[in-house]
Amino acid sequence: MAQKDTEAVIDIAEDDRDEATGSGDTGFRRNTGQRYASFLDGLHEKVGFDWYMEIGCRAGRTFAPVRANTIAVDPFFKAEHNIIGDKRRLFVFQETSDDFFASGFLDQMQIRLGFSFLDGMHLFEFLLRDFMNTEANSEAGGVIAMHDCVPFNERMLTRDLDNLPRGPWTGDVWKLIPILRKYRPEVKLTVLSCRPTGLVLVSNLSPGNTVLNEAYDEIIANWRDVNLVDYGVARFYEAFELTDPAEFAEADYPVFAKVRRDPAAVAAPVKVTK
Ligand SMILES: C[S@@+](CC[C@H](N)C(=O)[O-])C[C@H]1O[C@@H](n2cnc3c(N)ncnc32)[C@H](O)[C@@H]1O
Repeated sequence: MAQKDTEAVIDIAEDDRDEATGSGDTGFRRNTGQRYASFLDGLHEKVGFDWYMEIGCRAGRTFAPVRANTIAVDPFFKAEHNIIGDKRRLFVFQETSDDFFASGFLDQMQIRLGFSFLDGMHLFEFLLRDFMNTEANSEAGGVIAMHDCVPFNERMLTRDLDNLPRGPWTGDVWKLIPILRKYRPEVKLTVLSCRPTGLVLVSNLSPGNTVLNEAYDEIIANWRDVNLVDYGVARFYEAFELTDPAEFAEADYPVFAKVRRDPAAVAAPVKVTK
């Protein structure tokens, strides 16, 4: 079965399971847009970048189609795709994102990131650090995508790594939406209704901004024990508008205007021997 067909089946199975268990999670809404991986495929077909980074890669499904120079970070890879593909340069780091950033590799190589996809550990303090470190190393017009910030039931919110749910697990990375709204109101959040658990594009970045670094301890203390149901599911959804990923693609991926390169300008690899 083709990859996309498999994904469609998994998606239906996840929906069935949720109905079957009758979660009764009132107020939660399902994302109904294109699946995140096919949205990203379409983006990489139309929009090129100088440097792409992905944190949390596992099988390589979402960075295999990327043609940009790529940095891939995951403490446990199980590459099942042609991850080099058409890329000229690919750096793979089998370590945590914290260790990767602490290594100073991006600075040493003078790499500025055009587009980054954050899909590593789904606990909000990890995603917050990934966001801060990625922004600090981004091009001024760069874009950061955060996965799994729009959960659709209570089970998927758990922070208990020993008891993760079957099907999608978002942990509590939803907190990044209200945290960025409060501490960084100038960044633009485009919340795509990608199935199954949303995709948030953050643009209008300021690589030199230190507000989150300075407030880090306060943010962790204030948010660590907040639970989405107590916080208010309706309050969470009311704070942003959902954007349909197909309409966003139809509009030619507007938030990428300052950082996009012509993907056709990226030289395809040439076979030099038989
Ligand atoms: C959901 S998978 C990523 C899937 C991939 N992006 C995709 O869409 O096909 C999450 C990955 O995050 C990785 N991960 C867990 N903790 C991490 C950390 N501290 N730093 C980086 N990656 C981490 C896991 O090993 C796992 O492979």
